[in-house]
Amino acid sequence: MNKQQRDGSSPRRWRASITAALVAMAGLFGTFGITGGASAADEEEAPDYVWNAMQGEKLIALRAKGDPVRGAITFEICQGCHRAHALGRPDGTYPRLAGQHDTVLIKQMTDVRAGRRRNDKMLPFVDRHVVGPQDIADIAAYLTKLPVPPTHGKGPGDRLDEAAAQYKQICQECHGARGEGDAAQFYPRVSGQHFRYMRRELIDIRDGARRNANPRMIKVVKGLSDADLEALADYMSRMPVD
Ligand code: HEC
Ligand code: HEC
Repeated sequence: MNKQQRDGSSPRRWRASITAALVAMAGLFGTFGITGGASAADEEEAPDYVWNAMQGEKLIALRAKGDPVRGAITFEICQGCHRAHALGRPDGTYPRLAGQHDTVLIKQMTDVRAGRRRNDKMLPFVDRHVVGPQDIADIAAYLTKLPVPPTHGKGPGDRLDEAAAQYKQICQECHGARGEGDAAQFYPRVSGQHFRYMRRELIDIRDGARRNANPRMIKVVKGLSDADLEALADYMSRMPVD
């Protein structure tokens, strides 16, 4: 477990628990029943969002041994959008999934299922009636091993020097010098990814529309303009893929 995963906001939760206990006691003394108090307690104790908290089906999928052969078969339902070999579309509508870290794929899929990352188009294909945690592990095992050809969408190619310096300063620590990411930390690989998809994600993460984003990343992109984010996406789209 890394630092961010432990960074829960416990004082708020403590306050919520104390309030809930008081509400429950008031219910008990007032009506000789705890039903009213218990429902108030449920509301009070709704957990605060903790980035990448290790729980539920994400943990089950991460612990399961994925079978890439079964994953390839299950992935057929995804190909209409993510295309054959999971290469996505250069226009950025559908991201490339080939070569992405298995941990990242599992986190993103389970975040979509839990409503932590909104994706109305995809949800019917990944919801609980269609795939389970073992299928998710299988799909991730299949996708992570797929080759990453340099056929993805690139940006316009201006401002690359500026973006390279900025990337090194504020992004490289997590996404790596070659955009390789870090499987153990759940940091996505960004090399080989479509420019337009990355530009959209950067804007969504900065503006809070992608709600499952790493809080430290949100901090570093907060002050950047659309033009800065476009240049960064462009620079990353030109990283070597091998
Ligand atoms: C109807 C189209 C559609 C289908 C079918 C679909 N997806 Fe997606 N998927 C998307 C879109 C669009 C995004 C990008 C959302 C965004 O822009 O934030 C996405 C994003 C993802 C991501 C996140 C990628 C990243 O880099 O963070 C994963 C993982 C993923 N899809 C897996 C799957 C799997 C596995 C299936 C099949 C079980 C599937 N998708 C089926 C449309 C689809
Ligand atoms: C503290 C580590 C960290 C830093 C610093 C960071 N990122 Fe990220 N980044 C992440 C994580 C983790 C995700 C996946 C979102 C999530 O689930 O939290 C992500 C997602 C992304 C994505 C979307 C990838 C995808 O497949 O959907 C892009 C593009 C990106 N980051 C670019 C950048 C750029 C450019 C910078 C610097 C301005 C940066 N990041 C700084 C951790 C970081």
